[in-house]
Amino acid sequence: MSVSAVAVVTGAGSGIGLAAVRLYAERGYGVVAVDVNPGGLAELEKIGNVVALRGDVAEEKTNEEFVSVALERFGRLDAVVLNAGFGGAGPLESPGAIDRFDRIVAVNLRGVVLGVKAALPAFRAAGGGAVVATSSVSGLAGDPGTWAYNAAKAGVVNLVRGLAIDYAVENIRINAIAPGGTATALTQGVIAHPELGPAVTRRIPLQRWAEPREQAEAAFFLTSPAASYITGVTLPVDGGLSANGGILLPPAFPGDAPH
Ligand SMILES: NC(=O)c1ccc[n+]([C@@H]2O[C@H](COP(=O)([O-])OP(=O)(O)OC[C@H]3O[C@@H](n4cnc5c(N)ncnc54)[C@H](O)[C@@H]3O)[C@@H](O)[C@H]2O)c1
Repeated sequence: MSVSAVAVVTGAGSGIGLAAVRLYAERGYGVVAVDVNPGGLAELEKIGNVVALRGDVAEEKTNEEFVSVALERFGRLDAVVLNAGFGGAGPLESPGAIDRFDRIVAVNLRGVVLGVKAALPAFRAAGGGAVVATSSVSGLAGDPGTWAYNAAKAGVVNLVRGLAIDYAVENIRINAIAPGGTATALTQGVIAHPELGPAVTRRIPLQRWAEPREQAEAAFFLTSPAASYITGVTLPVDGGLSANGGILLPPAFPGDAPH
Protein backbone atom coordinates (compact mmCIF):
# COMPACT_ATOMS: atom_id res chain seq x y z
CA MET A 1 0.00 0.00 0.00
CA SER A 2 1.41 3.38 -0.95
CA VAL A 3 0.43 6.17 1.43
CA SER A 4 1.81 9.66 2.02
CA ALA A 5 1.74 9.37 5.82
CA VAL A 6 0.20 7.18 8.52
CA ALA A 7 -2.20 7.99 11.35
CA VAL A 8 -3.79 6.06 14.19
CA VAL A 9 -7.26 7.14 15.31
CA THR A 10 -8.86 5.79 18.52
CA GLY A 11 -12.59 5.88 19.16
CA ALA A 12 -12.71 5.46 15.39
CA GLY A 13 -16.04 3.69 15.02
CA SER A 14 -18.32 6.67 15.61
CA GLY A 15 -18.63 10.45 15.67
CA ILE A 16 -15.46 12.53 15.74
CA GLY A 17 -13.15 9.52 15.39
CA LEU A 18 -15.03 8.20 12.36
CA ALA A 19 -14.89 11.64 10.73
CA ALA A 20 -11.14 11.75 11.45
CA VAL A 21 -10.57 8.34 9.82
CA ARG A 22 -12.39 9.54 6.69
CA LEU A 23 -10.48 12.85 6.60
CA TYR A 24 -7.01 11.36 7.03
CA ALA A 25 -7.80 8.64 4.45
CA GLU A 26 -9.11 11.24 1.95
CA ARG A 27 -5.83 13.14 2.37
CA GLY A 28 -3.69 10.15 1.45
CA TYR A 29 -2.90 8.77 4.89
CA GLY A 30 -2.90 5.11 5.79
CA VAL A 31 -5.06 4.85 8.92
CA VAL A 32 -5.23 2.35 11.77
CA ALA A 33 -8.75 2.76 13.18
CA VAL A 34 -9.13 1.55 16.79
CA ASP A 35 -12.35 1.03 18.73
CA VAL A 36 -13.57 -1.15 21.58
CA ASN A 37 -16.91 -1.56 19.80
CA PRO A 38 -16.68 -3.85 16.77
CA GLY A 39 -20.00 -2.58 15.34
CA GLY A 40 -18.57 0.78 14.42
CA LEU A 41 -15.46 -0.72 12.86
CA ALA A 42 -17.23 -3.01 10.38
CA GLU A 43 -17.67 -0.38 7.67
CA LEU A 44 -14.25 1.20 8.06
CA GLU A 45 -12.14 -1.27 6.14
CA LYS A 46 -14.21 -0.51 3.03
CA ILE A 47 -12.42 2.86 3.01
CA GLY A 48 -9.13 2.43 1.12
CA ASN A 49 -5.94 2.23 3.22
CA VAL A 50 -7.81 1.81 6.52
CA VAL A 51 -7.05 -1.08 8.88
CA ALA A 52 -9.56 -1.64 11.69
CA LEU A 53 -8.38 -2.87 15.07
CA ARG A 54 -10.61 -3.82 18.00
CA GLY A 55 -9.26 -2.86 21.41
CA ASP A 56 -9.72 -0.98 24.66
CA VAL A 57 -7.45 2.08 24.88
CA ALA A 58 -7.27 1.73 28.67
CA GLU A 59 -5.14 -1.39 28.12
CA GLU A 60 -1.46 -1.05 27.32
CA LYS A 61 -1.54 -3.91 24.83
CA THR A 62 -4.11 -2.14 22.59
CA ASN A 63 -1.82 0.88 22.33
CA GLU A 64 1.25 -1.25 21.59
CA GLU A 65 -0.76 -3.18 19.02
CA PHE A 66 -1.92 -0.13 17.07
CA VAL A 67 1.68 1.00 16.69
CA SER A 68 2.76 -2.48 15.54
CA VAL A 69 -0.09 -2.62 13.03
CA ALA A 70 0.80 0.83 11.63
CA LEU A 71 4.42 -0.21 11.17
CA GLU A 72 3.62 -3.67 9.76
CA ARG A 73 0.91 -2.54 7.33
CA PHE A 74 2.21 0.88 6.31
CA GLY A 75 5.86 0.99 7.43
CA ARG A 76 5.68 4.23 9.40
CA LEU A 77 3.76 6.31 11.94
CA ASP A 78 3.29 10.08 11.68
CA ALA A 79 0.20 11.03 13.66
CA VAL A 80 -1.80 9.63 16.57
CA VAL A 81 -5.33 10.87 17.32
CA LEU A 82 -6.18 9.76 20.88
CA ASN A 83 -9.90 10.39 20.75
CA ALA A 84 -11.69 7.51 22.52
CA GLY A 85 -13.80 8.78 25.38
CA PHE A 86 -17.12 8.98 27.16
CA GLY A 87 -18.62 10.45 30.34
CA GLY A 88 -21.51 10.00 32.77
CA ALA A 89 -20.47 8.93 36.30
CA GLY A 90 -23.73 10.16 37.85
CA PRO A 91 -23.92 11.90 41.24
CA LEU A 92 -20.83 11.43 43.44
CA GLU A 93 -22.83 9.66 46.16
CA SER A 94 -24.72 7.32 43.85
CA PRO A 95 -23.90 3.58 43.98
CA GLY A 96 -21.01 2.66 41.70
CA ALA A 97 -19.98 6.28 41.04
CA ILE A 98 -16.36 5.70 42.05
CA ASP A 99 -16.06 2.65 39.79
CA ARG A 100 -17.51 4.70 36.93
CA PHE A 101 -15.07 7.52 37.73
CA ASP A 102 -12.17 5.03 37.56
CA ARG A 103 -13.33 3.81 34.15
CA ILE A 104 -13.86 7.35 32.80
CA VAL A 105 -10.33 8.30 33.88
CA ALA A 106 -8.94 5.02 32.52
CA VAL A 107 -10.34 5.64 29.03
CA ASN A 108 -10.19 9.45 28.70
CA LEU A 109 -6.88 10.11 30.51
CA ARG A 110 -4.91 6.86 31.02
CA GLY A 111 -5.74 6.00 27.40
CA VAL A 112 -3.94 9.16 26.28
CA VAL A 113 -0.92 8.46 28.50
CA LEU A 114 -0.66 4.91 27.13
CA GLY A 115 -1.17 6.06 23.54
CA VAL A 116 1.63 8.62 23.71
CA LYS A 117 3.96 6.12 25.43
CA ALA A 118 3.33 3.48 22.79
CA ALA A 119 3.95 5.91 19.90
CA LEU A 120 7.24 7.33 21.20
CA PRO A 121 9.66 4.67 19.89
CA ALA A 122 8.19 4.84 16.35
CA PHE A 123 8.24 8.66 16.39
CA ARG A 124 11.80 8.66 17.71
CA ALA A 125 12.94 6.29 14.97
CA ALA A 126 11.33 8.57 12.37
CA GLY A 127 12.85 11.78 13.77
CA GLY A 128 9.52 13.11 15.08
CA GLY A 129 5.75 12.77 15.12
CA ALA A 130 2.55 14.38 16.33
CA VAL A 131 -0.19 13.50 18.79
CA VAL A 132 -3.58 15.12 19.22
CA ALA A 133 -5.76 14.07 22.14
CA THR A 134 -9.46 14.85 22.46
CA SER A 135 -10.17 16.86 25.59
CA SER A 136 -13.41 18.85 25.77
CA VAL A 137 -14.83 22.22 26.78
CA SER A 138 -15.74 20.12 29.83
CA GLY A 139 -11.99 19.98 30.51
CA LEU A 140 -11.76 23.79 30.52
CA ALA A 141 -14.52 24.44 33.08
CA GLY A 142 -17.02 22.50 35.18
CA ASP A 143 -20.50 21.41 34.10
CA PRO A 144 -23.46 20.34 36.22
CA GLY A 145 -23.41 16.61 36.98
CA THR A 146 -20.18 16.07 35.03
CA TRP A 147 -17.46 16.04 37.73
CA ALA A 148 -15.73 12.82 36.66
CA TYR A 149 -15.60 13.74 32.97
CA ASN A 150 -14.55 17.31 33.95
CA ALA A 151 -11.62 15.88 35.92
CA ALA A 152 -10.53 13.42 33.22
CA LYS A 153 -10.74 15.96 30.37
CA ALA A 154 -8.98 18.67 32.44
CA GLY A 155 -6.26 16.09 33.07
CA VAL A 156 -5.75 15.81 29.31
CA VAL A 157 -5.23 19.60 29.03
CA ASN A 158 -2.34 19.62 31.50
CA LEU A 159 -1.02 16.23 30.40
CA VAL A 160 -0.37 17.50 26.88
CA ARG A 161 1.47 20.50 28.31
CA GLY A 162 3.75 18.34 30.44
CA LEU A 163 4.46 15.71 27.80
CA ALA A 164 4.92 18.34 25.08
CA ILE A 165 7.72 19.90 27.12
CA ASP A 166 9.40 16.54 27.71
CA TYR A 167 9.41 15.43 24.07
CA ALA A 168 9.76 18.69 22.13
CA VAL A 169 13.52 18.16 21.96
CA GLU A 170 12.81 15.02 19.88
CA ASN A 171 10.50 16.89 17.46
CA ILE A 172 7.46 15.13 18.92
CA ARG A 173 4.51 17.51 19.20
CA ILE A 174 1.66 16.79 21.63
CA ASN A 175 -1.54 18.84 21.53
CA ALA A 176 -5.26 18.51 22.20
CA ILE A 177 -8.55 19.74 20.86
CA ALA A 178 -11.38 20.77 23.16
CA PRO A 179 -14.59 20.13 21.25
CA GLY A 180 -17.75 21.94 22.21
CA GLY A 181 -21.16 20.41 21.52
CA THR A 182 -20.74 18.15 18.49
CA ALA A 183 -23.50 16.15 16.84
CA THR A 184 -22.53 12.52 17.58
CA ALA A 185 -23.94 9.45 19.32
CA LEU A 186 -22.56 10.85 22.61
CA THR A 187 -24.79 13.93 22.43
CA GLN A 188 -27.83 12.86 20.40
CA GLY A 189 -29.97 12.64 23.59
CA VAL A 190 -29.22 16.27 24.47
CA ILE A 191 -29.68 17.56 20.93
CA ALA A 192 -33.03 15.79 20.57
CA HIS A 193 -34.29 16.90 24.01
CA PRO A 194 -37.06 19.49 23.49
CA GLU A 195 -35.82 21.92 26.17
CA LEU A 196 -32.18 21.00 26.69
CA GLY A 197 -31.27 20.98 22.97
CA PRO A 198 -32.30 24.58 22.21
CA ALA A 199 -31.01 25.76 25.63
CA VAL A 200 -27.51 24.44 24.88
CA THR A 201 -27.57 25.81 21.33
CA ARG A 202 -28.37 29.27 22.73
CA ARG A 203 -25.19 29.24 24.80
CA ILE A 204 -23.02 28.72 21.70
CA PRO A 205 -22.03 32.05 20.07
CA LEU A 206 -22.15 30.46 16.59
CA GLN A 207 -25.67 29.27 17.53
CA ARG A 208 -25.21 25.71 16.27
CA TRP A 209 -23.55 22.42 17.20
CA ALA A 210 -20.38 21.30 15.43
CA GLU A 211 -20.32 18.61 12.81
CA PRO A 212 -17.83 15.80 13.62
CA ARG A 213 -15.83 16.76 10.54
CA GLU A 214 -15.16 20.22 11.98
CA GLN A 215 -13.44 18.54 14.95
CA ALA A 216 -11.55 16.21 12.62
CA GLU A 217 -10.26 19.20 10.63
CA ALA A 218 -8.78 20.76 13.78
CA ALA A 219 -7.19 17.45 14.80
CA PHE A 220 -5.76 17.02 11.31
CA PHE A 221 -4.30 20.53 11.38
CA LEU A 222 -2.59 19.97 14.73
CA THR A 223 -0.90 16.78 13.52
CA SER A 224 0.02 18.21 10.11
CA PRO A 225 3.23 20.00 9.08
CA ALA A 226 1.13 23.21 9.00
CA ALA A 227 1.23 23.11 12.81
CA SER A 228 4.97 22.41 12.99
CA TYR A 229 5.59 25.11 15.64
CA ILE A 230 2.60 24.27 17.85
CA THR A 231 3.00 21.99 20.86
CA GLY A 232 1.47 21.76 24.33
CA VAL A 233 -1.77 23.56 23.46
CA THR A 234 -5.42 22.66 23.74
CA LEU A 235 -7.41 24.24 20.92
CA PRO A 236 -11.08 24.90 21.70
CA VAL A 237 -13.23 23.93 18.71
CA ASP A 238 -16.45 25.10 20.23
CA GLY A 239 -18.18 27.83 18.21
CA GLY A 240 -17.02 30.38 20.80
CA LEU A 241 -18.60 28.58 23.78
CA SER A 242 -15.53 28.79 26.03
CA ALA A 243 -14.95 32.44 25.08
CA ASN A 244 -18.17 33.44 26.86
CA GLY A 245 -17.83 34.13 30.58
CA GLY A 246 -21.37 32.90 31.04
CA ILE A 247 -23.13 35.79 32.81
CA LEU A 248 -25.15 36.66 29.71
CA LEU A 249 -26.22 34.37 26.92
CA PRO A 250 -25.45 35.30 23.32
CA PRO A 251 -26.55 36.99 21.16
CA ALA A 252 -26.17 40.36 22.92
CA PHE A 253 -28.60 42.08 20.55
CA PRO A 254 -31.38 39.62 19.66
CA GLY A 255 -32.72 40.45 16.20
CA ASP A 256 -30.14 43.21 15.82
CA ALA A 257 -26.93 42.79 13.82
CA PRO A 258 -23.80 43.97 15.66
CA HIS A 259 -21.98 46.94 14.10
N1 LIG B 1 -19.68 15.00 20.98
C1 LIG B 1 -19.34 16.02 21.75
O1 LIG B 1 -20.11 16.98 21.90
C2 LIG B 1 -18.00 16.04 22.44
C3 LIG B 1 -17.63 17.21 23.08
C4 LIG B 1 -16.40 17.28 23.71
C5 LIG B 1 -15.55 16.18 23.69
N2 LIG B 1 -15.95 15.03 23.08
C6 LIG B 1 -15.02 13.93 23.09
O2 LIG B 1 -14.77 13.54 21.76
C7 LIG B 1 -14.39 12.17 21.72
C8 LIG B 1 -15.24 11.44 20.70
O3 LIG B 1 -16.59 11.54 21.12
P1 LIG B 1 -17.81 11.39 20.11
O4 LIG B 1 -18.74 12.50 20.41
O5 LIG B 1 -17.34 11.16 18.73
O6 LIG B 1 -18.48 10.08 20.75
P2 LIG B 1 -19.01 8.72 20.10
O7 LIG B 1 -19.69 8.03 21.23
O8 LIG B 1 -19.77 9.00 18.85
O9 LIG B 1 -17.65 7.97 19.71
C9 LIG B 1 -16.75 7.54 20.69
C10 LIG B 1 -16.13 6.23 20.24
O10 LIG B 1 -15.15 5.86 21.22
C11 LIG B 1 -15.26 4.46 21.40
N3 LIG B 1 -14.70 4.07 22.69
C12 LIG B 1 -15.24 4.29 23.92
N4 LIG B 1 -14.46 3.74 24.86
C13 LIG B 1 -13.42 3.17 24.22
C14 LIG B 1 -12.28 2.45 24.66
N5 LIG B 1 -12.10 2.15 25.96
N6 LIG B 1 -11.37 2.02 23.74
C15 LIG B 1 -11.57 2.27 22.42
N7 LIG B 1 -12.64 2.94 21.94
C16 LIG B 1 -13.55 3.39 22.84
C17 LIG B 1 -16.74 4.17 21.31
O11 LIG B 1 -17.00 2.78 21.04
C18 LIG B 1 -17.16 5.08 20.17
O12 LIG B 1 -17.08 4.43 18.91
C19 LIG B 1 -14.54 11.66 23.15
O13 LIG B 1 -13.29 11.69 23.78
C20 LIG B 1 -15.47 12.66 23.77
O14 LIG B 1 -15.33 12.72 25.16
C21 LIG B 1 -17.14 14.94 22.44
